[in-house]
Amino acid sequence: MKMLTPEIKQRVAKLRQQLQKANYAYYVLDNSIMEDSIYDQLYRELQNIEKQHPSLITPDSPTQRVGDKPNSRFISVIHSIPLYSLENAFNIKELKEWQERWQSYYAVSNNEKIDYVCELKIDGAALALTYKNGLLIKGVTRGDGKTGEDITQNVRTIQSIPLKLALDNSPTIVEVRGEAFLPLDEFKRLNVEREEVKDPLFANPRNAVAGTLRQLDPKVVSQRRLQFFAYTLHLPQNNSLNSQWESLKWLKNQGFLVNPHRELCPSLEDVVNYFRHWEISRRYLPYMTDGVVIKLNNFGLQKQLGFTQKFPRWAIALKYPAEEVITRVKEIIVNVGRTGAVTPMAIMEPVHLGGTIVQRATLHNHDHLTKLDIRIGDTVIIRKAGEIIPEVLRVLPELPLLRSKPYSMPSHCPECGSMLIRPLGEAVTRCINISCPAILRGSLVHWVSRDALNIRGLGEKIIVLLINSGLVKSIADLYCLSTENIAILDHIGQKSASNLVAAIENSKKQPWARVLYGLGIRYVGNVTAKLLADNFCTVEKLSQASIVSLSLVPGVGEGIAKSVFNWFNISENITLIKRLKNAEIQLQTYDDLIPKTTSKYTKILNKIFVITGTLSTLTRNEAKKMIEIEGGKVTNSVSSNTDYLVVGKSGGSKIIKAKTLGINLLTEKELLSMFD
Ligand code: IVH
Repeated sequence: MKMLTPEIKQRVAKLRQQLQKANYAYYVLDNSIMEDSIYDQLYRELQNIEKQHPSLITPDSPTQRVGDKPNSRFISVIHSIPLYSLENAFNIKELKEWQERWQSYYAVSNNEKIDYVCELKIDGAALALTYKNGLLIKGVTRGDGKTGEDITQNVRTIQSIPLKLALDNSPTIVEVRGEAFLPLDEFKRLNVEREEVKDPLFANPRNAVAGTLRQLDPKVVSQRRLQFFAYTLHLPQNNSLNSQWESLKWLKNQGFLVNPHRELCPSLEDVVNYFRHWEISRRYLPYMTDGVVIKLNNFGLQKQLGFTQKFPRWAIALKYPAEEVITRVKEIIVNVGRTGAVTPMAIMEPVHLGGTIVQRATLHNHDHLTKLDIRIGDTVIIRKAGEIIPEVLRVLPELPLLRSKPYSMPSHCPECGSMLIRPLGEAVTRCINISCPAILRGSLVHWVSRDALNIRGLGEKIIVLLINSGLVKSIADLYCLSTENIAILDHIGQKSASNLVAAIENSKKQPWARVLYGLGIRYVGNVTAKLLADNFCTVEKLSQASIVSLSLVPGVGEGIAKSVFNWFNISENITLIKRLKNAEIQLQTYDDLIPKTTSKYTKILNKIFVITGTLSTLTRNEAKKMIEIEGGKVTNSVSSNTDYLVVGKSGGSKIIKAKTLGINLLTEKELLSMFD
C-alpha cells in the first residue's frame, strides 16, 4: 500500500471537485463541460486512489453513487411528514371552483396580493430525500403517503440528486421532495430493449420509473438514467423561507434540478394562460407531463388552509386529457427487423397525435392483429401509449359487408422471398435466412445507433446504398471502406465520404460494452451488455463462458445466457469477431488495459516498447495489449526513453534510429520469451 501523502489527499479533493462540477453541469444545467473520455479518465484515477487508500472514501464521492451490493429487499419507513396527494381538476371550471373553495376558508381582503406558483406536473414517482448535515442519508418512495420504502441505494444513482448539498450553511436536517422521472428517449430505449427480451413493455414512463426504483440491484437502476425534479422543501421550524417560490430558489442553489418552466402567477387568469400554453408546448418536452400543479405561493396562507383527509387545500393538479385520435387504415405491411422478426404495421392517413404526425402503428404480431380484426379501409382509434408508441386501440364498427377481407400474414419474406417460420409456441413470425438484406440492414442500423457504436452520419439511406453496391456484406466491411469507394455512391460527396470514414474510424474507441450491444445478440440490450461486459472483460472470456457461468451474472437470466452461448457457437459470428479484432474494435474493457502496478513479468513492468514491421504470430495491436496488461507502455516513436524496439518483418527507419540511440532490439520470439 502506498503512503498517504498530502499531495494524494489534495489530488482526491481536486478530482472530486472536477467530477462533481462536470456532473452538475451535465445533469442539472444540461451543459457538457468535459469530454466523456476525460471524465472517464479522471473518474478512474479517483477510483484507483480510493482503492489504494480506502480511508479516503467519503459517501459523497462521485465514485460512491452505485453501491456494489444489491438490496435483498426494501425496508418500510414511516414518513415523518405524510406525502399528500393532489386533488385533480379536469377543466377551467373545476379550477375556478377550487379557487372558490379555498377562498371560503380564507377571506381575501381587498388589497391583498395572492400569488400562485405554477409548475408542470411531471409524470413520474414521488420521492422523499433526507439530508443530514448536508449529506444525503435517505431516499424513500411515496408508498401510500404514510409509509414508503427505503430505496436509498437506488436514489443515490440518480445523477441529478446531489449527494451533498452545495451550500455549507444548510440546516442539520432537510427533507426534499420531488419527482423521479424517466426522459422519453430513455423510456423508448428501455421498451425496445424489453421487447427484445420479451419482457412485458412498460405502458408509460411512470410505470417504468416505479419499476426501476424497485429494482433490487442499484447497478441496473444506474443504467436507466433516471432524473429528479425537486419541488418541495421541508426545513426545521425556524427558517427564513416564506414561500414556495423561495423554496424552489433555495433548492436550485443547493444543486437540485428544479423544473425551469415554473412560473409565479399573480392571478388565476395567468394560471389559465400557463395551462393553455403548456397544453401545446408540453409535446416538445423531453419528459412526460400530464397536467400542471397550481400552489398558493405564501406559506402563511398554506398553513392557514391546511389539508383535507387526502389533499392540501392550497394546491390542485389541473390535468390534460389523454390523447386519442381517429384515422383510417390505408395499408397493412410487414416489417422485417434485424433479428428476422416480422412485425405487421398499419399505415394510416397521417394524423396529429401527441406533438408528432403519426402514420404508422405497430400491430405487434399475428395474434394481436387477428384479435383486433383490423382490415384495410377500417377506421381506427389510435393512442400513444406513454405518448411514444402509437398503437391501435380498437377498430370502429362499420357495415360488415363494406369491409375488405381479413388480413393474413404473408407466407414469404417480402425482402428476400424465403419462407417465413413461426416456431411452435412463439408469437413472432420470422425470416430465418441469415443473408436476408433486411437482417443485414437492421444489424447495421443497430451497430451504428446511438447506444451502440454511435457512428454519426451513417443513416439507413447510406446503409442501403452500401449494401446495394455490394461494398458492405457484413458489419466488419464498414471498417474496410475508404473515402474513394464511398464517394462513388450516389449523392455522396468527397467531403461527406471522408467525414464518414473518420466517424467509422472513431467508433473504434467505443468501449467493449457498446460493441457487445452493437452485435445485436438476441436479448442483449444495452443494460445486459453492460452487465456482461463488466463480468466478462474480454470477448474471449465471454465466448468461452458456459450457460451456467453466464446466468450467474446478476440480471442475466437463462434465456439471455442461452442466447449468448448459442451466438458464439455460430461460425459466421466467430469470423465476424476475428475481423472486428483485426479492425482494432474494443473487444475488452479499458480496465483490462490499465497498466498494473504489480506484475510478475518484471522485464516488462514500466518499460517502454516500440513495435515496428509486421510480426508473424501476433498482430501489432495484440502485442501492444499484452505488454500493456503487464504494466509496460507502447509508444509510436523511438526516443531515448525507449527501452526496447520489437522488430517484425520489413521494419524500417526505426531500426536505424534505435541503433544510433543504443536501444535494445527484440525479435518477436524474444518478446514472447519475456512472458515465460
Ligand atoms: S406537489 C402536497 N408538485 O403528482 C403537495 N406534485 O397527483 C404534493 N407531481 O404525488 C405534491 N409534479 O408525485 C407536486 N410539481 C409537482 C408535481 C407533483 C408531479 C406528482 C406527485 C404527487 C402527484 C399527485
